[in-house]
Amino acid sequence: MAEKMDAKLDYKNQQNDVVIDTDRKLRIGIIGCGWIAAAHLDSYKRMPDVEIVAGCDLIPGKAAKFFKDGGVEGVKTDYASHKEMLDDESLQLDAVSVCTYNRQHAIPTIYALNKGINVMLEKPFTVTLDEAVEVMKAEKESGKVLSIGFQPRLDANMQMIKKIVESGELGKVYYIQTGGGRRRGIPTPFGTTFIEDKTAGLGALADIGCYSLDMVLNAVGYPKPLTVTGYKSDFFGKDPTTYPGHPEYADLFGVDDFAAAFIRLEGGIILDFRIAWAMNINTPGDTIILGTKAGLRIPSTDCWNGSVGGPMKIYKTIGGVDMEYEVPIIRDEGSLFDKKIRSFLDAVKYGKPAPVPTSQIIYNQAILDGIARSAKLGKEIKIQIPKI
Ligand SMILES: NC(=O)c1ccc[n+]([C@@H]2O[C@H](COP(=O)([O-])OP(=O)(O)OC[C@H]3O[C@@H](n4cnc5c(N)ncnc54)[C@H](O)[C@@H]3O)[C@@H](O)[C@H]2O)c1
Repeated sequence: MAEKMDAKLDYKNQQNDVVIDTDRKLRIGIIGCGWIAAAHLDSYKRMPDVEIVAGCDLIPGKAAKFFKDGGVEGVKTDYASHKEMLDDESLQLDAVSVCTYNRQHAIPTIYALNKGINVMLEKPFTVTLDEAVEVMKAEKESGKVLSIGFQPRLDANMQMIKKIVESGELGKVYYIQTGGGRRRGIPTPFGTTFIEDKTAGLGALADIGCYSLDMVLNAVGYPKPLTVTGYKSDFFGKDPTTYPGHPEYADLFGVDDFAAAFIRLEGGIILDFRIAWAMNINTPGDTIILGTKAGLRIPSTDCWNGSVGGPMKIYKTIGGVDMEYEVPIIRDEGSLFDKKIRSFLDAVKYGKPAPVPTSQIIYNQAILDGIARSAKLGKEIKIQIPKI
């Protein structure tokens, strides 16, 4: 009880004293108890209207240890897979967080939706476009809430990009350059699930590329992608010297550590994209949005994580005079992860639309999938999204 009261106060402090109705508790389960699941657990613990009732992982004992380490008692974890947990009707789950590696995003999500359970699915949406389409069919059939875990877009600075575009200050947007990267940052802190094809499916392209795409596509209203010319490489991932103490990871590396693409979007917008987990430069460039009336520069971060790296600048010519002015960084209150979880819970509780809807993220996924396919074929491809 004391723990729950603390959680309530904690959350109130972070979210400007938003009062949460605790009359009805939402019963939550977590599928996949690895690295990011800990962030979900921490946020759920801060929500006074949540009861975490179950968790599962393919690795025996991992879920039980996860909740013990997380300080949550009474959680049922004796399940060998997502299927066993979701089949347990005694749990009466309202929602699950799907925190599995990319190749296991679609399967548990579809299974949960088919059981009538709402889903908070981690990013990227899926690995392939076909999987994303199947998930959306299950979502439509179920009528349940499915939100995708893009917490950076809940940042006030990120929302300012959208406000600037929507204000008309830039005029008609015709060209966007986005992406980012890390000089050295292939993610292997907890093993190899990010770098093996059988678990990750895609590398930097999906892991951090999905954030860059969301930053700009969300700002310009998620236009439909039409064609893509993509490139992928793995020079650093396949190099044993990349992994001090673990040279064997080079053999296991089965995804991309760099990707680039030229994408045509509906509405005559060109999207020039590049993303890297490793490269021989500090940054492949800032994000820029060029419009007929003004241009916007969004500084990149050193360790690309999908956020705004410093004050943005607007470039404009008035009366023949070139001007530039700064958009100050907004100090955002509270944790983005808490906002992501809270907005999902509110959608479930009050029948609101998903905060990060699949109707948008399907275009993000179509681009990732298009880049991967075009890179393999070595030529431009048309993006075709089946009717759902
Ligand atoms: N939003 C963010 O900021 C953020 C940050 C990191 C990772 N992620 C995403 O979260 C996902 C997981 O990443 P991670 O770092 O936690 O990976 P991880 O490998 O540490 O954990 C994944 C866990 O899922 C388990 N699992 C896989 N399939 C399962 C199934 N069908 N049923 C039950 N358990 C299953 C695995 O055994 C593993 O323990 C990835 O898709 C990643 O892109 C998001």
